[in-house]
Amino acid sequence: MTPTFSAVRGMHDILPGECAAWQRVEDGARAVLEGYGYDEIRLPLVEKTELFSRSIGDVTDIVEKEMYTFSDRNGDSLTLRPEGTAGCVRAVIESGLLRGHTPRLWYRGPMFRHERPQKGRYRQFHQIGVEVYGLSGPDVDAELILIGARLWQRLGIEGVRLEINTLASSDARATYRERLVEFLKQHYDALDEDSRRRLYSNPLRILDSKNPVMQALLAEAPQLLEHLDADSRVHFDALRAHLDAIGIAHVINPRLVRGLDYYGRTVFEWTTDRLGAQGTICAGGRYDDLIPLLGGPATPAVGFALGLERVMALLPEASHTAVPHCYLALAGNTAEQLGLAFAERLRDAVPALRMQVHCGGGSLKSQLKRADKSGASFALILGEDELASGRITLKALRTERPQCLLDQQSLQQGLADASVAEVEARLHQLMN
Ligand code: HAM
Repeated sequence: MTPTFSAVRGMHDILPGECAAWQRVEDGARAVLEGYGYDEIRLPLVEKTELFSRSIGDVTDIVEKEMYTFSDRNGDSLTLRPEGTAGCVRAVIESGLLRGHTPRLWYRGPMFRHERPQKGRYRQFHQIGVEVYGLSGPDVDAELILIGARLWQRLGIEGVRLEINTLASSDARATYRERLVEFLKQHYDALDEDSRRRLYSNPLRILDSKNPVMQALLAEAPQLLEHLDADSRVHFDALRAHLDAIGIAHVINPRLVRGLDYYGRTVFEWTTDRLGAQGTICAGGRYDDLIPLLGGPATPAVGFALGLERVMALLPEASHTAVPHCYLALAGNTAEQLGLAFAERLRDAVPALRMQVHCGGGSLKSQLKRADKSGASFALILGEDELASGRITLKALRTERPQCLLDQQSLQQGLADASVAEVEARLHQLMN
């Protein structure tokens, strides 16, 4: 028997009916990022394993148990990128982009984590990531948050909440870590298994626990915000002042710690209640210590990434399709022969037009059925009579209006300067 294949668990096709929404988000993000003067960078999907273990951290979930790691034919240990920040840092160091510059960059593409798949959590997922190098102030942290806010606005995504926190300097964090471990040791019996495991390896991550029992205990725990170094306090207050001045609502979540080790100072997440447990659609923060850790010159850095599958799930229904404006039916042999050429002339004259041309012959009735299925709002019918008279029949498919016969010239002229969004309204006008 011929075997049948299914996609790898947690990895999904993006089918034709879904691509329009993806393009809308990707195009929207690109337009917003270009509007802020950010440049695209394209990075390999595969990096040396050590790049991720050093940057994300050996005792994080990602590095401990989620990476797709393999030996290539030379015996080198390589990993499918679980995120984009590490590769981007590697690239800017390697290519000398940091010398004398403060690059503001973005990238997009698939990331791979061997997590337990569920709604909103996949093993291959897609991010748009944004990274800024060489700027240490809270102004650029605020700009990154503004870019997120502008994107939600542009895409019509409502009900997202901004949470921010500061993870302080590495020294202040180390002192706080000791306090936290002391507190948790005193309550060792109350700790769940996960927290016991993390107590000495990565105690800050315990703060992030979703277990209600742990959350109640952690409400009593010392807070990092009370142990901030002076510079981090100033930075955090200034960030908040920027957000207040621009009117970006935010809540301080003192337990927001993030699952990657490279962060210090600002961290933030955009979350929604509409996606169940996987409600973080975008997350990031400052990682000033990472570039020297990876062998580059001391350079401050900050960035974020949004999860495209999650953003897609919040997109308003209307954004999900790219249906054609019209469907061109070709009645009779001559029309069938001349149809493609007619369509090309119309496309030349109306660059914004989305038109599906009927292929494969058949009766006008069957062609109109196809027109209906295409989702188009109008059919254009080219038959013997129309060819002889230089006209075209325009038929509304979604409203009860009598079809009309137009000069081909008037059709072209009526639509010529329309944008994609305007074509449909113009076709309605032409019926009057
Ligand atoms: P992250 O929080 O690991 O950060 O991922 C960012 C976003 O990617 C998440 O908020 C979520 O929307 C999405 N995401 C993560 N894992 C999955 C998954 N398994 N399935 C679907 N979506 C997922 C980073 O990756 C950092 N590199 C962000 C950053 C950039 N920080 C500074 N610069």
